[in-house]
Amino acid sequence: NGAAKPVIVAIDGPSGTGKSSTSKAVAAQLGLNYLDTGAQYRAITWWMVNNGIDIEDPSAVAAVAGKPEIVSGTDPEGPTITVDGVDVAGPIREQDVTSRVSAVSAVPEVRARITELQRVIASAAVTGIVVEGRDIGTTVLPDADLKIFLTASAEARAARRSGELKGADLDTTREALIKRDAADAGRKTSPLAKAGDAVEVDTTELTLQQVIECVVTLVEEKRAGK
Ligand code: DC
Repeated sequence: NGAAKPVIVAIDGPSGTGKSSTSKAVAAQLGLNYLDTGAQYRAITWWMVNNGIDIEDPSAVAAVAGKPEIVSGTDPEGPTITVDGVDVAGPIREQDVTSRVSAVSAVPEVRARITELQRVIASAAVTGIVVEGRDIGTTVLPDADLKIFLTASAEARAARRSGELKGADLDTTREALIKRDAADAGRKTSPLAKAGDAVEVDTTELTLQQVIECVVTLVEEKRAGK
C-alpha cells in the first residue's frame, strides 16, 4: 500500500506547438510538478550574454558552463526561474536571448550540466512531473511513464508565436522559428527528436483545450495501467 508511484511525463516538440501551455495545464489538472527545460537553457544563455561570453566560441561557453547557479520552481500555477538568485523570467523571453539560445544549448558541457539538474528535479517530484523540452523522452528521462511529441505545421506555429509576441511580423517570426528548429534538430548532442515510444500529437487543427484533454486522458490511461 502507500502513496502511488510518481508519474513522469515527457513532452517534446518544436517551438509554437503549445508545449508550455499544454504542459502547465496538464500538470495543474493532475496535481503534478512542471519543469520548463527551455527556460533553463534560456537562463544559462542569459547569463552568458550578461557576462560577455562569446557565444560563437563553444570552448568559451564550455569553460563557464558550470558557473551560473540555475534554480527552477516547479509549481505549474507559477513556475519560477532564477540565476544566481536573480529572477530572470522576463529577460529570458527577450529577443537577444531567443536568438542565441540554440548556439549555447548545442554545447555538450551545457547540456550535461542542465540535464543533470533536470534529472535531480524529476527524481524529487513526489506525485510526479511534466517535463517539457526537446530531448526529454530521448535523453533526459528515457524511462518516462509517458512520452508525448507535439507537432504542428510551420504556418500554425508561426501564427501562434506572433500572437504571443505582440505586433511581431508573421514572415519574420516564421523564418526565425524555422531557423531555430533546424538548429535544434540538427545539432550533434541530443537533438530535437521524437522518441521511438512517444505518442505523436499533431496540434495543427486542435484547440489548446483539445490538446490538454488528449494528454490528460493519455496520462490517466497510463496510471490505470492500460
Ligand atoms: O522551449 P523554448 O523555446 O523556450 O526553448 C529554448 C531553446 O532551448 C530551444 O531553441 C532549444 C533549447 N532547448 C534544448 O536544447 N533542449 C531542451 N530540452 C529544451 C530547450
